[in-house]
Amino acid sequence: MRFKDKVVLVIGGNSGIGRAAAEGFAAEGAHVFLTGRSQATIDETVAAIPRAQGFRADIADIDSNDAVLAAIREAHGRIDILFVNAGIGAFAPVDEVTPEQWDEVHDVNLRGCFFAVQKALPLMGQSGSGGRESAIVITGSIGSVAAVPGNVMYAAAKAGLRAVARTLGAELIGRGIRVNMVSPGPTETPIINRSGLPPEAVAGMRTMMTDAIPMKRMGTPEEIARAVLFLASDEASFITGIDLYVDGGCVEL
Ligand SMILES: NC(=O)c1ccc[n+]([C@@H]2O[C@H](COP(=O)([O-])OP(=O)(O)OC[C@H]3O[C@@H](n4cnc5c(N)ncnc54)[C@H](OP(=O)(O)O)[C@@H]3O)[C@@H](O)[C@H]2O)c1
Repeated sequence: MRFKDKVVLVIGGNSGIGRAAAEGFAAEGAHVFLTGRSQATIDETVAAIPRAQGFRADIADIDSNDAVLAAIREAHGRIDILFVNAGIGAFAPVDEVTPEQWDEVHDVNLRGCFFAVQKALPLMGQSGSGGRESAIVITGSIGSVAAVPGNVMYAAAKAGLRAVARTLGAELIGRGIRVNMVSPGPTETPIINRSGLPPEAVAGMRTMMTDAIPMKRMGTPEEIARAVLFLASDEASFITGIDLYVDGGCVEL
């Protein structure tokens, strides 16, 4: 029960890694608030998680988290743990990348994530959280350090997000807020089928990715979530600013 009575906000908590983390936090006693875009999967997720509340919010619209933040302020007056996990994939060869695609990926994966943190800060740390310490975990990707053809938009956004996490880590340390990143390797979640590629190309991509992973398998959302929960918990009380690869050995081996 590492999260007994903790107030947790999961941005992008209605699918894949975010949902697994939301379930994990709640299973250890947290009050979980989660956001996403799809009302159907928000409803389904909230129904499956004790005490959870869900809010529809598009992170690209930086005011859209106002409703969930107001509800948390009203109910608890603080956020103990913020997990910023929303993200979209995007593949295109360099010659075909359009400014619109570039902006869409960066609006969600970089700009939206930064402003989601900024807007939550008044409820966090020693000023916002009743003198208690609090933690931010941000989902990065090994794509920020691995050079994969076709991945330029996503890689650039996630590398920017890594810089955001490090800078926030340094800037928020004096407010009692730890900031860490978890960077998954290929993980079996709905994002794989949301690439816009035809099914044969998705199957080929899955085979190519699995072959390239030293453990020769993809990760599960629960395996990524366990790292998120660790960094969010008091067990990680002396850890801030790190980027933890949870990737079956892709980056380090
Ligand atoms: N799976 C992998 O192999 C992998 C590898 C490295 C990093 N990651 C990262 O892991 C994170 C979670 O992805 P996942 O694999 O679990 O995929 P997923 O199942 O597609 O989940 C993505 C989550 O982000 C939310 N989201 C996307 N765009 C949003 C927006 N504009 N506003 C608010 N929420 C938004 C989704 O909500 P809706 O469903 O409602 O859109 C969903 O909850 C992402 O940041 C992704 O980049 C994944």
